[in-house]
Amino acid sequence: DGKMNVAIDGPAGAGKSTVARLVAEELGYIYVDTGAMYRAVSLHMLRKDISPEDMTQVLQEAQDLVIDLQPDRGGQKVFCNGEDVTSEIRSREVTGIVSRYAQIEGLRTQLVDTQRQMALRKGVVMDGRDIGTTVLPDAEVKIFMTASVQERALRRFKELEPSDGLTLEQLERDIATRDKLDENREVSPLRCAEDAIVLDTTKMNIHEVVDKIVSYCTMVR
Ligand code: C5P
Repeated sequence: DGKMNVAIDGPAGAGKSTVARLVAEELGYIYVDTGAMYRAVSLHMLRKDISPEDMTQVLQEAQDLVIDLQPDRGGQKVFCNGEDVTSEIRSREVTGIVSRYAQIEGLRTQLVDTQRQMALRKGVVMDGRDIGTTVLPDAEVKIFMTASVQERALRRFKELEPSDGLTLEQLERDIATRDKLDENREVSPLRCAEDAIVLDTTKMNIHEVVDKIVSYCTMVR
């Protein structure tokens, strides 16, 4: 029935996961948030007190780590060794360090392998940083979603609870730092694939972005 794979990449806070989830829903596809996998590994390492500098230990510990993504009412639940870590992986502590674990080559190899297996039967919308370039270079549709740093920080800010006590400026700084780490790492850095469609969403709403991507998908099919 001609199912495809859809790769959605871009910097932090561009709205990739919301959009990817909605696109998957419209197409009847499975949504895979690869950032959640890097986050789950990072949470596990934090708990075990293993620093990203301790590459050997990180890799050893990651070997028997089971990260499981399960569709959940249009969203996705994340399990780490059977424990539901869906909300904990969104903490500022994890967000602040995930890009450092994500630089470790052996860890990426392991996660990329799992991600490719999830996409084998097609019908997957996968979001991340290296999906179009590395994980699924043969994806039928590749989108690179961007937005200005200010707009991305503002979107995050609106999602926060006042009790989080974060300012817009802090968010802007956090996002810019994470982008820099993701863009400048040696192993599959955040890059726009040559054959990706670039969508600058600074002035678009979610609905417009989803419509645009779904219509690209319909064209390809
Ligand atoms: O998408 P999200 O912001 O949850 O991703 C968290 C972090 O995980 C990113 O900042 C990046 O360092 C890493 N990541 C990655 N490759 C992916 C997805 C996420 O390196 N495919």
